[in-house]
Amino acid sequence: MDRVFSGIQPTGELHIGNWLGAVKNWVALQDQYECLYCAVDLHVLTAKYDPAALAGRTREMLVSLMAAGLDPERSIIFAQSHVPEHTRLMWFFTHVTGVGELERMTQFKDKSQRMERVPAGLLMYPVLQAADILLYRANRVPVGEDQVQHLELSREIARAWNAEFSAEAPFLPEPQALLTPARRIMGLDGEAKMSKSLGNTIGIFDSAEQIWEKLRPAKTDPARQTKKDPGTPELCNLFTLHRHFSSAETVQTVDRNCRTAGWGCIDCKRVLSESINSEFAPIRARGEALRADPAQVDRAIARGAERARAIALDTMAGVERRMGFLPMTGQG
Ligand code: TYM
Repeated sequence: MDRVFSGIQPTGELHIGNWLGAVKNWVALQDQYECLYCAVDLHVLTAKYDPAALAGRTREMLVSLMAAGLDPERSIIFAQSHVPEHTRLMWFFTHVTGVGELERMTQFKDKSQRMERVPAGLLMYPVLQAADILLYRANRVPVGEDQVQHLELSREIARAWNAEFSAEAPFLPEPQALLTPARRIMGLDGEAKMSKSLGNTIGIFDSAEQIWEKLRPAKTDPARQTKKDPGTPELCNLFTLHRHFSSAETVQTVDRNCRTAGWGCIDCKRVLSESINSEFAPIRARGEALRADPAQVDRAIARGAERARAIALDTMAGVERRMGFLPMTGQG
């Protein structure tokens, strides 16, 4: 059976950008594939972070994923740092990865430009990401568009490693990115990608009031200066959100009332606010139930790590053998 792996950084809330771009699809894929989903806490070290907050954020991200519909009975849901083989495999991959390729990564170029001292981990970030995926020999990786270049590098690493160490029967599959139609959700400012670090998000646990407070000032089609100016829905970021959160009938009504200036933007935002709220209400309720039962969450996280580790150790044995390391056969 095909295997799915994906990860998310525990650097903040789960928001509608990573919900629509990735996590909603993760939930759906559970029915078709063997799935592993990971809070990638080791990736957090590639930027400044608060050690006092890390454990809480990692746990909260795993709770968010379970509340969003990932089922720890069906999928393997875990924290990256609980499986030490991620960093081991990363080191083995440095052998087949060129520094030049890493320096060409768009995210590395963007982030390193803004830093006085670039941590080595930032350059290594996509090698760890390749190790995350290939440690489970996963062949499908549901991500948003911003991860496609990293995925391409994972494929190159798999190819280079296979060519050197398992040319006859490739041991590592070349993973394919799975994109959704919502591959790049813009922030509420309408200017940049929705992102935890830019504060232009709506979180899956936001209350109805918070959703409305955030939507009210959100950017719409700039041609609609007043309520009487007709608009073009395709030019409005919020229309994109309607298409993801509202019923087909509502989307049609919004489209008509925008073009004819039948509604002001505020009317359209009210309807969107309700649609988003009704999609997230059951997720909020599941989040509350999970937080009320911390022992159940702890058990699910420990079980996830145990199941992930069994696969990881199996892959590592195959990797070490093919790379020529001395097996440890004596008894202690
Ligand atoms: P991260 O934590 O930034 O985001 C998690 C997932 O959400 C998607 N995403 C978006 N999609 C559409 N529109 C947006 N505005 C938006 N914002 C985020 C991301 O594309 C991603 O799929 N490097 C990864 C984490 C990672 C990983 C992996 C992913 C580590 N190892 C192995 C896949 C496989 C990251 O920082 O995602």
